[in-house]
Amino acid sequence: MNTIAVIGAGTMGNGIAHTFAQTGFTVKLIDLSEKNLDRGMATIAGNLDRMVSKGTISEDDKLKTIGNIITYTDLKDGVVGVDLVVEAATENVDLKLSIFKQLNDACSHNTILATNTSSISITQIGAVVAHPERVIGMHFMNPVPIMKLVEIIRGYNTSDEVTRLIMDLSVRLGKVPVEVNDYPGFVANRILMPMINESIETLYNGVAGVYEIDTVMKLGMAHPMGPLQLADFIGLDVCLAILNVMYDGFKNPKYAPCPLLVNMVRAGKLGVKSGEGFYDYSESKKAEKVAKMFA
Ligand SMILES: NC(=O)c1ccc[n+]([C@@H]2O[C@H](COP(=O)([O-])OP(=O)(O)OC[C@H]3O[C@@H](n4cnc5c(N)ncnc54)[C@H](O)[C@@H]3O)[C@@H](O)[C@H]2O)c1
Repeated sequence: MNTIAVIGAGTMGNGIAHTFAQTGFTVKLIDLSEKNLDRGMATIAGNLDRMVSKGTISEDDKLKTIGNIITYTDLKDGVVGVDLVVEAATENVDLKLSIFKQLNDACSHNTILATNTSSISITQIGAVVAHPERVIGMHFMNPVPIMKLVEIIRGYNTSDEVTRLIMDLSVRLGKVPVEVNDYPGFVANRILMPMINESIETLYNGVAGVYEIDTVMKLGMAHPMGPLQLADFIGLDVCLAILNVMYDGFKNPKYAPCPLLVNMVRAGKLGVKSGEGFYDYSESKKAEKVAKMFA
């Protein structure tokens, strides 16, 4: 496996492209517009610069990594000849089903089709392609170049062979893969999102402020980042989408998104990526705050 395609150059897609390219893969990075691709490439370049300045990689490694990435705005062109596709487009079930239908037509039946979805059923996605045994969840964590975990999700039809290949590939990327089954939220978000939602509910109920809630969890529970700050970093729209999938999937009110989260997403306050969420990430403060999160 040498050439892969990544669909989506947003928060996760650019991190996934970066990680594969740094390991020596040729990466075809696909998004809807040149503007999105430029933004994704600028993020990759900025993250590589930070690694060079920390001495983690050399200037030559940086240039090689960037040189391994080719950008495309056309999905069909981007997936020609690839061994693996990792889909990291917006968390929306209809969008993902439509992308996988296109992949079914554009790729060979031997191409492994992975999705980075946080919560959407791998089995449901697999059902729209021929040979669903090659569809698998490859759930990277944010920020991808730094976080070790990859949650590997087996859909109902995913084969043992594809699971083994993707587990081995994750190790080759320097990650630690963990195999789980396909139920809403898988493991990571089934546990994380109720905590984030409860933190938002605690704020909404006026029990404490943003700083206080995050400080209780950071200093009291030894979490490296408070849950509200983490929600900002994940993207409040992504958190809302995941909670809705779990709410619908389990038909259980405990997963109902807090009205404050719903309102913030409606108001365009999506966290780091929009410049404001529970914290302010206006351009002047953004780089400093994001850097501090991972100091
Ligand atoms: N944000 C996180 O912390 C996180 C963590 C793990 C997994 N995920 C999952 O990763 C996926 C991407 O999330 P994100 O946070 O990177 O979202 P994002 O909004 O930052 O980026 C999504 C990108 O997909 C692009 N896109 C949309 N439709 C497309 C299409 N048809 N073809 C090509 N590109 C398309 C958008 O233009 C955008 O650039 C989601 O499934 C999400 O649940 C997110």
